This record gives sequence, C-alpha cells and structure tokens, in this order.
Amino acid sequence: PDPGWTVRADVIVVGSGVAGLTLALRARRAGRVLLVTKGRLDEGSTRWAQGGIAAALGEGDSPEQHLRDTLVAGAGLCAEDAVRVLVTEGPDAVRRLIDTGAEFDRGPDGDVLLTREGGHLRNRIVHAGGDATGAEISRALAAAVHALPDIEVIENALVLDLLKDEGGRAAGVTLHVMDEGARDGVGAAVGRAVVLATGGMGQVFSSTTNPSVSTGDGVALALRGGAEVTDLEFVQFHPTVLWLGPDAEGQQPLVSEAVRGEGAHLVDAAGVRFMTDRHPLGELAPRDIVAKGIMRRMAETGAEHMYLDGRHFGAQMWKHRFPTILAACLAHGIDPVTEPIPVAPAAHHASGGVRTDLHGRTSVPGLYACGEVACTGVHGANRLASNSLLEGLVFAERIAADLARDLPPFAEPVAPSAPAGLLGEAVRLPLQRAMTSGAGVLRNAAGLAATETTLTALAARAGDDPCTPTWETTNLHLVASALTRAARLREETRGCHWREDHPDPDDTAWRGNLVTSLRDGEL
Ligand code: SIN
Repeated sequence: PDPGWTVRADVIVVGSGVAGLTLALRARRAGRVLLVTKGRLDEGSTRWAQGGIAAALGEGDSPEQHLRDTLVAGAGLCAEDAVRVLVTEGPDAVRRLIDTGAEFDRGPDGDVLLTREGGHLRNRIVHAGGDATGAEISRALAAAVHALPDIEVIENALVLDLLKDEGGRAAGVTLHVMDEGARDGVGAAVGRAVVLATGGMGQVFSSTTNPSVSTGDGVALALRGGAEVTDLEFVQFHPTVLWLGPDAEGQQPLVSEAVRGEGAHLVDAAGVRFMTDRHPLGELAPRDIVAKGIMRRMAETGAEHMYLDGRHFGAQMWKHRFPTILAACLAHGIDPVTEPIPVAPAAHHASGGVRTDLHGRTSVPGLYACGEVACTGVHGANRLASNSLLEGLVFAERIAADLARDLPPFAEPVAPSAPAGLLGEAVRLPLQRAMTSGAGVLRNAAGLAATETTLTALAARAGDDPCTPTWETTNLHLVASALTRAARLREETRGCHWREDHPDPDDTAWRGNLVTSLRDGEL
C-alpha cells in the first residue's frame, strides 16, 4: 500500500518491550529516535513476565557459572561467544536498569533478592513485586521514555514491511496506524537504521502465555525484507501454564517457574511426584525436560494435565511472593493455598528469530533485531529461564553502541513489494489448531506433513482487504510455514524440538543451525 504520510528520524525502533524501550533510551546518543509500537507503550510480552531476570549478582555466583548453565540448557546449539557477552555484560545491564528506575524486591539488608528457576545451579533471578517483574520493568522503562520528549512515540502502529534504499540498505518501515488522528492509516517511518524489537510469535499456537499482539510481525517483515532467520523450530513450551480446560485458546495464565524455584512440587492426580526420578534437578530441570516429563506422565496416566502443589507455602507466602499467580488462580476458582494447581505446557518463547551478530546486526545492512524477535544464539535449542529479559537488555545496549559508532547518511527508500495476498481473519483459528496438533510440543513427520498441507490450503484463501487482522494473519501464516518447515527438516530431538520419530539428538547431522530465507516468495 502507498504510504499516505512519512515521518523521519535517525533510528526507527519497532516495539516497546524491554528491548525496544531500552533501545529508545540508549540510542538517543546516536541521533533522533522514533519508537513505533503496535499497541500501547506498556503492552507486549515483557509486562507479562513473572519470574525475573537472570544475572550473576549473588555471592558465590559468577558469569562463568551462568555461562555453563546456559550452555547445558541450550543442548549444544548456543553460540558460546553470544552467551559470554550475555552473562558478562548482564550484571551491569541489570544495575543500569535499576538506575533507570526499576525497583526489584530486596531483603531486610537492602540487597536485591535472588531466586532460582529451572536449569540454574545458583540463585540468580532478580524479581519485582513478587511475581510481577515484567510489569515493573515495563513501568520503569516506559516512564523513562515518556519523560524524554525528544523520543517520538507512535502507538497503535502495526509494522508492515521493510523499506530499503537503492543499495539494499534498510531505510525505514511502512506502518498501519490503527487509531484516529493525523497519522491514521498507512504511512512510512524513514530513518538511517531500523531496529526490530517486536517480540515473539506465540499466537501461532492455540494456547500460549503470549499476549494477542505476539503475531510474529518482525520475523515476517524480516523474511519479506530478505533477511535470514534461524532456529525457528525451537519453540519453548512453558511446563506450568494454568490449565483451564481442553478447549482453552489464546493467552493463558502463566504459573512461574519461580513457584518451583521456591519449592513447589509437580504431582500427578494421585499426588505422586514424577520429576524426581527423571532428572537430578527434579522439578528444577531445564524447561524442555520438565515439559517432556509432564507430557509423558499425562500419556502414562491418561490425564489432560498435571498439578503443581504449593500448599505448603501457606497463605502469607502466596499473598506476598506470588500475588499475580494467586489472583489468576482465584479468578478461575482455584485456591493454591488449599489445593494443587492444574497445569499443562503451552507455547511460551521463540528461541529462534532474525539472525544477528554480536551487535544485533541482521543479514540486511542497516536492519537490527533485538529481544525475542532476534536469534543472537544465546538460547540454542532451549532457552534457560529468565535469560530473555536479560538478552533484551544486553543486546539493546550493544545495538545502541553500534548505532552511535556507525550511522550512515539518510537515503531515500524505494517502494517495497507488497505481500502477494492478505489472508482473512477466518484463517487464524484453523492455522493455530493445525500448528498445535502437528507442530506443537510433540512432533513427528506425519503430523508436520499434515500441518503443512493445512497451511498450503489456507494460503489459497488469500485476497482479503488490508487491515490489521489480515496483516497479522498473513504474518502468522508466513512464520507458521517457516517454523513447520524447519521442524520437519530437523530429524532429531534436541532441546525443545521434540520429534517422536527421531527421539535422540544427532550430533553428526544436526549440530548446526537451520537458516531460512524467502527467495522469490518461496521459503
Ligand atoms: C517464568 O516465570 O516461569 C518465566 C520465566 C521465563 O520464561 O524466563
């Protein structure tokens, strides 16, 4: 579509989670920043994060130990240089977040409290408001951005496509602004660099912890813009999501891993703990192992869910340490003080995304990616709990530094080629169901082939008018297709990619990354 209006800045940041907001604050030294975001400034996944941010801040802990835990969870696919950056620059990035105004929970001595989550051999998770860490981070960063009038913000702006100059360098994005006003409708944001910080794609599945805005818009834009994406098959399913019945769809309430970190047990309907003989860390094994343990026990006992038992915490601890989870449970008629919480795995985090180097640069010059939309290599085949907020913080600072070093002059963009056809909103539900049944937590060749057949049939329903739901559905279809293809090609089980028909890791054939790009519109 032709842009009806154009706005210019030096750096265009797309997205307003921890990555986008940190970038907007830190990139000011490179030039004028424009922050565009699909919802309001404080929407997106960050504000739903419960557990916290991992950083080696505690006595006896070290970046080296954090590195080892991250590499173990990543099951042989982490980029070690990226993990080293994450864990060594992480503690200072968290301190700067505190300086920016984020208030974390502290003990009586004033020190920041540190808890544990799965796969961490040390207590290193910083948290806020008990289990409302993301909400506090989002509040603090959004307040800091609002306090700086030189950062221009456009809310309710869905990013559509990448604009490039004649030399193929990123020169802006097209946007669809969804509310009334001077900038209503389709427009262009033109700049000297574009940073994608659009978050994840959990909405490709029926049941997810992600909010409704997580429709893979950044990965879809990057693919259409010619960038490489990688590791899309590694979708992390959070083991303990509140189970609200077999037909529950859309965003589901998370029951933080920190609940297990503080000592809650996973039990089956008979009250038997089933993780203790499956892994030395029991309920605190890396997340993929716990999700698989739950799925296996569900299959063994014919149950639709398992239970998380934290009754021994008592009412006071639930109230003060886990107020968000307590409220979500009570809202659904479950009292965790007196009964175990029904839980099952649901889609949670995309470990893959737009491929970047250690400075957040993608394969398209001038285009950067940061946070969940990016694949820096820090997560490998399975993200270590609470490393994602940290990744957003650390790499936002690195990108800001790179922009301050190297920002080219303005160049006029040439018009992008529009997607071949937009898919109607009616495609979304069958797409999500096909992804959940064939490309979800348990995969095999037949299920993946069936999902691909459904996706191909759904693509034939293109032709709807441009509007936010049709663009979102079109984006979901593209990322679902790329994800399913990668999951079909990777014939092994590794990290959170679980192939029933190839149950073991295959280091000979598969100790590497699958890189996806669009050529002539084909994956
Ligand atoms: C949680 O609180 O369990 C989520 C932490 C994460 O996904 O990193």
